[in-house]
Amino acid sequence: MNLRNTDHSYGPVTRAIHWWMAAIIISLIGLGLYMTSLPDGDPKWELYDLHKSLGSLVFVLVLIRLAWRRITPPPPLPAAMSSFDKLAAHTGHMLLYAAMITLPVTGYLDSSLGGYHLSVFGLFDVPMLFSEDKELFEQVVTLHRWIGYGLALLIIAHIGAALKHHLIDHDRVLMRMLRGQ
Ligand code: HEM
Ligand code: HEM
Repeated sequence: MNLRNTDHSYGPVTRAIHWWMAAIIISLIGLGLYMTSLPDGDPKWELYDLHKSLGSLVFVLVLIRLAWRRITPPPPLPAAMSSFDKLAAHTGHMLLYAAMITLPVTGYLDSSLGGYHLSVFGLFDVPMLFSEDKELFEQVVTLHRWIGYGLALLIIAHIGAALKHHLIDHDRVLMRMLRGQ
């Protein structure tokens, strides 16, 4: 079985990582919004730990994903797309990758600067490299929040674009990520 992307489709590895990460990230946004609305105490702090663990998993997965993308680049966009649409698609994808990296990084900084711990699924603790700084902590929390909101909007546009390809342009862009060949 060919695990790589081909000239006209995404391979099984890229597709598996895309859909697992999509599910985790959409859940993380919902969880982030929900947990911050709860009163202090349990289950709030348990959900914070879950959010931080899943967010750390996203960080590992995005590094694997970017490495795999270098080994086997994505198929080119359909020739029928205008250069403006291609540029918009590439920019959108780069922004999605940027958010997938900066959210875990600012999340980690939150924990470190806030003087908290980061226990990954209760299995091990990630060392906290920065000492407590409440002022900087508040700024990084705000940054994490706004990147999270930005990512939510980006995902809505991304899903809209995928549906437009399928329902209006009638090309294979959605199918090559859903089913491959
Ligand atoms: C792709 C990964 C991530 C996404 C999409 C994400 C998304 C979000 C969202 C949408 C919120 C709610 C913001 C608000 O309304 O206040 C939030 C809050 C939070 N996130 Fe993340 N996050 C991610 C990764 C992480 C990681 C790795 C950590 C820590 C190691 C983390 C720590 C936190 C904390 C502590 C809060 C609560 C901040 C507060 O109390 O206002 N996040 N996140
Ligand atoms: C229901 C939700 C989603 C649908 C229907 C969807 C659909 C797609 C499709 C059809 C492509 C292929 C585009 C192409 O062929 O050029 C794609 C690529 C991509 N998607 Fe999604 N997606 C979803 C959720 C997400 C989420 C939540 C993220 C990340 C936050 C994401 C990040 C990406 C990235 C970065 C690419 C570019 C892959 C590459 O070529 O490197 N997607 N998506």
